[in-house]
Amino acid sequence: MSAPFTQQLLKWNKKENKRSMPWKGEKDPYKIWLSEIILQQTRVEQGLDYYNRFIKAFPTVKKLAAAPEQQVFKLWEGLGYYSRCKNLIATAKIITEQYKGRFPNTYNEILQLKGVGPYTAAAIGSFAFNLPYAVLDGNVFRVLARYFGISTPTDSTDGKKLFSCLAQELLAKKQPADYNQALMDFGATICKPQQPLCTICYQKNECRAFANNWVAQLPVKEKKIIVKKRCFYYFVFISNKGIAIKKRMAADIWQNLYEFALVETTEPKGLDKKNALLLAQKHFDNVSNATVERISVPLSQKLSHQTITAYFIIIRISSSKALLTNGFEWVPAKKLINYPFPKTITGWLAQSGLF
Ligand code: ADE
Repeated sequence: MSAPFTQQLLKWNKKENKRSMPWKGEKDPYKIWLSEIILQQTRVEQGLDYYNRFIKAFPTVKKLAAAPEQQVFKLWEGLGYYSRCKNLIATAKIITEQYKGRFPNTYNEILQLKGVGPYTAAAIGSFAFNLPYAVLDGNVFRVLARYFGISTPTDSTDGKKLFSCLAQELLAKKQPADYNQALMDFGATICKPQQPLCTICYQKNECRAFANNWVAQLPVKEKKIIVKKRCFYYFVFISNKGIAIKKRMAADIWQNLYEFALVETTEPKGLDKKNALLLAQKHFDNVSNATVERISVPLSQKLSHQTITAYFIIIRISSSKALLTNGFEWVPAKKLINYPFPKTITGWLAQSGLF
């Protein structure tokens, strides 16, 4: 006999949960895996379009494994966490080569795949193979912390142990797929982080947080995220050969995406044209016969642990030797669309009026 929490959840799921998503009820592990990787970093509403575009471009894991990397990164553009895209490609290749195109069907094998942690392994295992593993992520922490009135920090050692035992205990072992999906949907639509729908919640009479007015305080986290500030001066060099871009290689954010010539500092500070030119000459080779045409307003992008403030500095240059030794490619403006860029750059490109 399962716990009242579980019984009520399944009942709500059957009768009232109207959330429809293309991967719901899906049995193809490739499609489930793809949807879960996309949903690791985005809300369902935004993830839907990405999922549909990926499935259209790569209907099978073999097609994804055989695709040029740049095409995959281009489709991923805007989702963020680009190392996950790299893992996606690596895993598609492993499944195609090592597993001969057949998705592994045990929890431990699934967990070994690059980019797959316990949450995603439980989701894939339960949805595709009916394996009895409960999902546990921020949504589940929140639902359980509230329902059971638990104030142990979810990111503490004790909290992790407590919540993962509880989550596994509550799982409907005979219908893990329905249970896990219902729990995700309940967390996303009713027991939401902000403005949860307590008044219409079918669990409200059993919910300790609701009874004690703790809903807004739970769950508790121990560690505060420290947000680092970074300032990016992007020099958009334009010559008669096109615009200078380069693949970002460092083990940092946006690895494998393209960018303009970059000078990084810590504090966001505006530059005038004269100082911008001096900065460009200091960092890049043969920047002579150059004119700074305009400098953008600061554009900020918030990531989970850092805030990037970017300035775009358009520089026209006539020397054919400019940047020759800095590893840039000169790309005609209308071809820029073929390259994957971080959101800060695509956002600026779209409103620059230049291309
Ligand atoms: N978030 C992660 N996986 C999900 C799923 N299968 N449905 C809805 N939201 C999710």
